[in-house]
Amino acid sequence: MIILRIYRRDGHYDVHQLDIKPETKLLTLFEQIRTGIDPTFAFSSGCRHGICGSCAVKVNGKPVLACKTEIGSFRSGVLRIEPLNSESPKIDLLSDFDGFYRSFSSFPDFLEPNGRPTKENFLPEATRCIQCGICYYSCPSVSYDKEFSGPAAALKQDRFLSDPADTITESRLEEAVGEVYRCVKCYRCTEYCPRSLDPEKAIENIRTRCLTRKEETIGTFHTKALFDSIYHYGKINETFTARYLFGFWGSLPLILSGLPFLFKRRVRLRPVKAANLKEIRRLLEMEND
Ligand code: SF4
Ligand code: SF4
Ligand code: FES
Repeated sequence: MIILRIYRRDGHYDVHQLDIKPETKLLTLFEQIRTGIDPTFAFSSGCRHGICGSCAVKVNGKPVLACKTEIGSFRSGVLRIEPLNSESPKIDLLSDFDGFYRSFSSFPDFLEPNGRPTKENFLPEATRCIQCGICYYSCPSVSYDKEFSGPAAALKQDRFLSDPADTITESRLEEAVGEVYRCVKCYRCTEYCPRSLDPEKAIENIRTRCLTRKEETIGTFHTKALFDSIYHYGKINETFTARYLFGFWGSLPLILSGLPFLFKRRVRLRPVKAANLKEIRRLLEMEND
């Protein structure tokens, strides 16, 4: 016996108590409810095989594809089923996907070919993305920063940046550099992707490319400042980072604003180096290789 609490259009939850086999797919269950219990129940599906990406919902807060998920795969006997984008549900389990689709049109998602053939057998992982929106709507950075185009868009950007047949790498990087530092590296996108793709790794790849570019931005410069601070002291030193970023005169107002903390002995005039500095440097050097 399973208890379902399903989100409905006016914000209430329908409760169904059903005797159902654990291997039944969520989507089959939705269809049974619509056919046998409530013909007004709305949800979305297309392929029934995890290809079209249209049936994503949240079950007890976890985003899944309804056509690929068995009822018995959840530990709890009570399932709370909600639309994927529960911040702005459209109707029943249908989500408003505008934000997700807009994120794709915020940069050129097509190849600008240079006439050269692409690498032999070049078939990037990103082509397996089914645009289900799961990574986008489970990303904490997207939820509080609507300017961030999100993990699926980064996966696509990385796909074009890795293609040797593309000609606009520099302008792609120019756009990406303002984006990738918005990710807080929580790995949710990678954890929940139903196609086992790794959008976080794509963001990491783009960050590495940005850092090796000649032209620096505040994002890459800040990263280098933090890196150098850890390399010198084994930890982040605010005075060092401020001087690195703004120079001596530029950082003076910031340093002066920290004077009360100096008097309260909350910060030290001479930064103390970490005891295991050698080990920290060795790890940083390994990471840099
Ligand atoms: S990367 Fe994965 S979770 Fe994100 S839209 Fe593509 S298939 Fe869905
Ligand atoms: S790793 Fe970054 S992009 Fe992925 S869900 Fe977390 S914050 Fe979002
Ligand atoms: S119905 Fe197409 S992915 Fe589920």
